Amino acid sequence: MEKIGFIGLGKMGLPMSRRILESKSYELFVYNRTPGKELDAQVVANPAELASVVDRLVVMVSDDDACEAVLFGENGVASSDARPLVINMSTISPKASMDFEQRMDKMGFGYVEAPVLGSVGPATQGTLVVLAAGKEVERARDLFEIFGRVTYEFPQVGKAAEVKLLINTNLGVQMAILAETLSAAEKLGISPERFLEVVNDSAVKTVVSQFKKDNLLKDEFPAAFPYKHLLKDLRYSVGMSSDAGARADLASATRDIYAGSEELFDLDFSAVKRAYRT
Ligand SMILES: NC(=O)c1ccc[n+]([C@@H]2O[C@H](COP(=O)([O-])OP(=O)(O)OC[C@H]3O[C@@H](n4cnc5c(N)ncnc54)[C@H](OP(=O)(O)O)[C@@H]3O)[C@@H](O)[C@H]2O)c1
Repeated sequence: MEKIGFIGLGKMGLPMSRRILESKSYELFVYNRTPGKELDAQVVANPAELASVVDRLVVMVSDDDACEAVLFGENGVASSDARPLVINMSTISPKASMDFEQRMDKMGFGYVEAPVLGSVGPATQGTLVVLAAGKEVERARDLFEIFGRVTYEFPQVGKAAEVKLLINTNLGVQMAILAETLSAAEKLGISPERFLEVVNDSAVKTVVSQFKKDNLLKDEFPAAFPYKHLLKDLRYSVGMSSDAGARADLASATRDIYAGSEELFDLDFSAVKRAYRT
């Protein structure tokens, strides 16, 4: 059986790597910075060791810095003598992704950029939407079919990352405006239950207003998509748009709303409702 590696067993990486195991088509090797994540796979000591035993490896870590660490840091993938295909599914800045591709390419590694849409539920069910770019996308297709229901391809590395950030900008703005108007409704003495009921029977109904309704009403925000990751995406998005000379008025305002509440970072991104408590 082909050996596949997985780096990053977080909220997304754990269910995604579990799907590789459950397919029974590959031998799975995993690395996570903090040891002890439960998975019936072979655990290796560092990314370099992982790279030396597998043919292809998936990276699913937090951000640009985390990717830099596992790819090029001490005992990173790049310090291995082997040259597996690197499939980076983390949501990162397009700039960093293009830089990773260039550096990996120079060293003889294939690099595929493949951020995903969908959260822990779709990751568990294998119904993510994969946004893929890179010269070797074809070599990752069987894995994308395990993780997702559809793959959208883009012409070069950086483009899939850009689309992912633009989608998450929409998500952040939708979440923030819902939280803002719900807070206003409460201040106006309108029942939050009734307000959300009407929202969800109107033209402004969204997936966010439906799926986050219970969190908002119960004021409980168990993390599916962590607040700190949405803030990271908004920051990357504003930087990306500004580099391209595009306006990012709502993205910047939403980023600032999210940035103001460090105590919410580990909760779900819908906890932005608490940022409106004054
Ligand atoms: N959660 C979602 O709904 C969702 C949906 C779509 C896309 N995403 C994106 O998918 C990626 C992973 O998200 P997640 O929700 O799984 O995040 P998470 O639960 O916070 O997990 C982050 C992972 O990155 C690792 N990591 C962080 N910094 C590192 C470093 N410096 N060196 C090595 N490893 C490091 C963590 O290792 P430790 O265990 O040691 O901390 C952990 O395995 C992010 O880019 C996120 O934006 C998330």
